[in-house]
Amino acid sequence: MPRAKYQFPSGFLWGTATAAHQVEGNNTNNNWWQWEQTPGNILNGDKSGLACDWWGGRWEEDFDRVANTHQNAHRFSIEWSRIQPSPSRWDDNAIDVYREMLKGLIKRNMVPMVTLHHFTDPIWFNEQGGWENEKSVECFIKFTRKVVKAFKDYVHLWVTINEPNVYLFGGYMHGGFPPGYNSLVRAFRAGVNLLKAHAGSYHAIHKLQSDALVGMAHNYRSIKPAHNWCLPESFLARQLKRNFHTFAYAAQNGVFSLLTTRKRVPAASNTQDFIGVNYYSQDIVSFDIRNPSTLFGRLHYPDGSDLSGSGFIANVPDGMFEALHWALHFNRPIYVTENGVEDAEDKMRPRYITQHIHKIWRAVNFNWPIKGYFHWSLVDNFEWERGWSQRFGLWGLDVATQKRIRRPSVDLYASICKENALSSDLVQKYAPEAFESIFPG
Ligand code: FCB
Repeated sequence: MPRAKYQFPSGFLWGTATAAHQVEGNNTNNNWWQWEQTPGNILNGDKSGLACDWWGGRWEEDFDRVANTHQNAHRFSIEWSRIQPSPSRWDDNAIDVYREMLKGLIKRNMVPMVTLHHFTDPIWFNEQGGWENEKSVECFIKFTRKVVKAFKDYVHLWVTINEPNVYLFGGYMHGGFPPGYNSLVRAFRAGVNLLKAHAGSYHAIHKLQSDALVGMAHNYRSIKPAHNWCLPESFLARQLKRNFHTFAYAAQNGVFSLLTTRKRVPAASNTQDFIGVNYYSQDIVSFDIRNPSTLFGRLHYPDGSDLSGSGFIANVPDGMFEALHWALHFNRPIYVTENGVEDAEDKMRPRYITQHIHKIWRAVNFNWPIKGYFHWSLVDNFEWERGWSQRFGLWGLDVATQKRIRRPSVDLYASICKENALSSDLVQKYAPEAFESIFPG
């Protein structure tokens, strides 16, 4: 059996990622809380409720957990509706809480990466028409300024908007996210404003903090045709990829495009100092005559996939390499801002982690500028329209008692972070079934 160690460059960031609404609890003033109140919107009628009780102070013990297990960074988000509960009011107490959290990370020698928008909007903002209203752009810039002025001494890595593509698709095209629309016209309007808001936020941050690094976290899907020789499938795969990743291109060339519609947003060109990549899985597109509404395409996972518990994620590590290769073309530093799997039993997670980190190492080894990895997630948290049915945490959560459950992946990830490396001994110990794929002998 070969023995080896895949070493990462010094200074590489190792952390986990979380989002305000998913962990804080009692976020009663945003659109997701509202959405959760309508039966049918969330699987099993679940509610975010107390979530992981971070607003009640449990962020502190969770930060201890990650610092004690050798992580040196954490990505979390600021809840807009807490900072600005109504258009004319800023909440200094909320600002103080986030300041304490940031100080808490720094005290633990951890680098914070802060997301300004992670899927949630204040209720008042939606009452004004949400992202379809042009005013949304200025509102978001104002919020950005408030936050950056308050926290610039503690943060220099900023994510303006998390997965604008998923937000737009979920909220305006598929309808599973609030505001629950199914309209391309609305999606386009909201998309342009999201892009303008990102651009305005990017420039506002740099004005206040010249050495800040600002980017977006893009949900990257590896989309492949079922048959390379099949022209309609190859065409569809290319189209889906182009459209799904549209915000990344738009923040480079200043043109927002969705299907056949385009809009120039010059302020958005070159507004990414780094590329954030959220990679989870790969899709295959097959030609299917029964699906005219999706241009005769049907998305599914590769045949014989290694599937997570609910079938939500297929373990396709090659897609991570592809995602990084895609990100490389933007000529910027790259952070893996999310990657993980739902797995309450922690059966698949060890191989998922090691196989994906192996692909990242391969990319690093080609000298691609990958600067860090944030595992999704620190602790089980509220998974949007899928509620509590999916468990993405390194630590499990007993929602009723708030008790944290240490899964074996905690120790696996701790060793990777500590050694700044992925070793054959570790893979043998935690994911022997993945050994051959990582250390072929
Ligand atoms: C991503 C979201 C994140 C989490 C993971 C599983 O799309 O950014 O909040 O829900 O999926």
